[in-house]
Amino acid sequence: MSAGSPQRLLWRDVRVFDGLCELAEPMAVLVEDGRIAWLRPMAGLDEAAVAGAREAGRGGVLTPGLVDCHTHLLFAGDRADEFAQRLQGVSYAELARAGGGILATVRATRAASEEQLLAAARPRLQALLADGVTTLEIKSGYGLTVADELKLLCVARRLGEELPVRVVTSLLGAHALPPEYAGNSDAYIALVCEEMIPAAAAEGLADAVDMFCEAIAFAPEQCARVFAAARRHGLPVRVHAEQLSNQGAAALAARHGALSADHLEYLDEAGVQAMAAAGSVAVLLPGAFLDLGAVRRPPIELLRRHGVPMALASDANPGTSPLYLPTLLLHLACTLFHLSPDEALAGMTVHAARALGHDDFGRIAAGQRADLCLWDVARPAELAYAVQAGRLRQRVFGGAITYA
Ligand code: NIG
Ligand code: FE
Repeated sequence: MSAGSPQRLLWRDVRVFDGLCELAEPMAVLVEDGRIAWLRPMAGLDEAAVAGAREAGRGGVLTPGLVDCHTHLLFAGDRADEFAQRLQGVSYAELARAGGGILATVRATRAASEEQLLAAARPRLQALLADGVTTLEIKSGYGLTVADELKLLCVARRLGEELPVRVVTSLLGAHALPPEYAGNSDAYIALVCEEMIPAAAAEGLADAVDMFCEAIAFAPEQCARVFAAARRHGLPVRVHAEQLSNQGAAALAARHGALSADHLEYLDEAGVQAMAAAGSVAVLLPGAFLDLGAVRRPPIELLRRHGVPMALASDANPGTSPLYLPTLLLHLACTLFHLSPDEALAGMTVHAARALGHDDFGRIAAGQRADLCLWDVARPAELAYAVQAGRLRQRVFGGAITYA
């Protein structure tokens, strides 16, 4: 890895995927002081306009840096034993009811120190960076006490300070019911609303509040309480919705102005309409769909028809999506959900940024932050078509070449 400082950098003769589509002509792209200054066709390029710029790259495909907008990257232990049990036919819900699943990871994560969590997460994050990620969201959700949830959010912030990547955090206190609250889920939701959210907001540790609305997790009325508490503390909301059944959670979240609703296999048309009206992004998670052997696909055609932006994320987590190769998710979104390669790439760039509440990165356009990837492929669609590590030639974060 070589570090560079922000300066005037020029890429020549690159095929550009700008966040929505591939531009027709080979382009030149100029970056100045960490932002994209302009992009112009190579044909007839005015050499005077690029005098003094350092030539940073030539040829290949330039995309916005990838944005992984839904991850559970911070945890201790692993669930390889449960993976084997699921292969024998035990379901995810059965494992959860028997105290495994998320709660198995909670036990290991509570016992881990910040340093141990950092050490465990570093190689996972390095894998994401090596495959083009420049921004990622990291959720808490494996602590489920005030102190342990804050510990996870602190470690997420530390990862963002340590490595050249933008980390956006979500407090996912309402991920599962911890054993000490068994039979008393309303009291746990009160803890989330009255202690966790206020503490995370006061310490500036959470950029959003997320929760899991499902028969094996929390009910819609409890979601509504969490969303209201988030609003009182100035935090936007997101939701794990309609993954295993239709709870109406995406529509409920949309009424609370949700940035996104994620998973969505059981989303119905009313939910799609509510999301469209609120401007919520649909975050598709083909890794969890694949690993759980799900059969029902999210309603892609309805989402398209109602103009709901579709983002795409790894959902990297130890239970349902232990996948740390973002470009594999591009491929899975195409093969499993029938997205086009352009839709998949847009889902990990411009729409993913929007799911995080940002519009100043995720596109290649003048004024955008210079978070870019230069790939050794001939056309952008190849990134979704072939599953192959090692195609990233350069990774640019805030105008600095951080991986080449
Ligand atoms: O997004 N749906 C709930 N949460 C995670 C799974 C977490 C786990 O199993 O550890 C998800 O799939
Ligand atoms: Fe998730």
